[in-house]
Amino acid sequence: MNFDLTDEQKMLKKMVREFAENEVEPSAAERDEEERFDRVIFDQMAELGLTGIPWPEEYGGIGSNYMSYVIAVEELSRVCASTGVTLSAHVSLASWPIYKYGSEEQKHNFLHRLATGKALGAYALSEPAAGSDVVSMSTTAKEDGDSYILNGNKVWITNGEVADMYIVFAKTDADAKHKGITAFIVEKGTKGFSFGKKEKKLGIRSSPTTELIFENCRIPKANRLGNEGEGFKIAMSTLDGGRNGIAAQALGIAQGALDAATTYAKERVQFGKPIAANQGISFKLADMATEVEAARLLTYQAAWLESQGMEYGKASAMSKLFAGDAAMRITVEAVQIFGGYGYTKDYPVERYMRDAKITQIYEGTNEIQRLVIGRMLTK
Ligand code: CAA
Ligand code: FAD
Repeated sequence: MNFDLTDEQKMLKKMVREFAENEVEPSAAERDEEERFDRVIFDQMAELGLTGIPWPEEYGGIGSNYMSYVIAVEELSRVCASTGVTLSAHVSLASWPIYKYGSEEQKHNFLHRLATGKALGAYALSEPAAGSDVVSMSTTAKEDGDSYILNGNKVWITNGEVADMYIVFAKTDADAKHKGITAFIVEKGTKGFSFGKKEKKLGIRSSPTTELIFENCRIPKANRLGNEGEGFKIAMSTLDGGRNGIAAQALGIAQGALDAATTYAKERVQFGKPIAANQGISFKLADMATEVEAARLLTYQAAWLESQGMEYGKASAMSKLFAGDAAMRITVEAVQIFGGYGYTKDYPVERYMRDAKITQIYEGTNEIQRLVIGRMLTK
């Protein structure tokens, strides 16, 4: 395995870092405070080609790969984890399943609009009573002539309401369990599709998380993704890659917290010397830096395996598990290094700490990642 960045990836990393620091970071604290999503930032990402990084040019992408994609999510999350997940949900969760399972017509239409950033995407799997236990979902899709009729509620949907296109999973056969779920592409504005509660959250507050409501919502058969009954496989295989996007988000948050804490520890003077001169602080920084590097290697490994067309599901669950837990530990330590100032909104580390928590919860809680890894080891 060789994770050396190519010249193209080095250029992309530099470009995204400049964009993140100049265009995203300045408003990050304010957007967090106001729980405000900024579509202009998404449009700027589209102009830079970030919305279609891994997809071929014929589908509106820039023809790069998953390594470039995780680098972009990492760099955005280093300054604003909400912006990181906007891109991650858009690319990994909304666009990937169309690239993988869509017909040519769906790729030229839906994927092209997502890749070029003309449309923003979202992925709707979870329900009030079906989070970890996906197959217990109750949203239904009933065949009716050339359409399906959707009924039910989805909750916690990232990019909800602001997205233009939703990958929605529903039961077409209630008795067939895993084999009775089907995936659909649903566009905003479809009659019978509306939005419910917007969550008020601990972290990633400028990423909207919204309920979707389907009431006799008629979806043309042309919008069915894959075959009837293939939805569970589509959902799970989408998450195989999506989880590495969240690992990249966690890695970016952790790197941001480490950078801030290192700078502060060198500048803050107590007892006549910088606090970094105390072994108690420098050992903390050493542990944080080591965990950041380990998280990066696992994240890049999963992206590299996917880029090579090799099996990456286990690697991706491992990267998400490790990077999420590491980001939580690292951001807590960063707040500690800042002392009382770290507990205030004068510095970004309290935001990093609040944002880190979600990386242990969504795209499968870290308990579920352990379940996935354990099953793969023992099957
Ligand atoms: N790829 C393809 N097929 C898969 C698969 C995969 N990764 N994982 C499982 N399958 C297949 C199995 O092979 C099995 O097929 P057969 O019946 O033919 O043998 C079938 O699916 C059922 O598999 P399981 O028995 O493993 O299913 P389960 O009901 O025990 O559930 C689970 C497994 C891993 C717990 C799954 O329900 C799960 O991942 N839960 C977590 C849900 C989740 O991650 N939600 C995230 C929502 S998106 C989000 O949160 C967005 C965001 O952050 C921005
Ligand atoms: P539950 O499944 O009820 O779990 C509760 C607790 O029990 C957890 O600690 C869990 O780990 C544990 N647990 C459950 N089962 C087991 C088990 N078998 N073994 C051990 N422990 C177990 N979903 C989408 O579909 N699309 C999105 O875009 C999306 N974005 C989200 C954004 C945010 C901010 C949040 C908070 C959630 C989002 N989700 C999204 C939903 C997310 O994926 C779920 O919250 C997550 O999968 C957990 O489901 P749950 O909340 O119902 O918890």
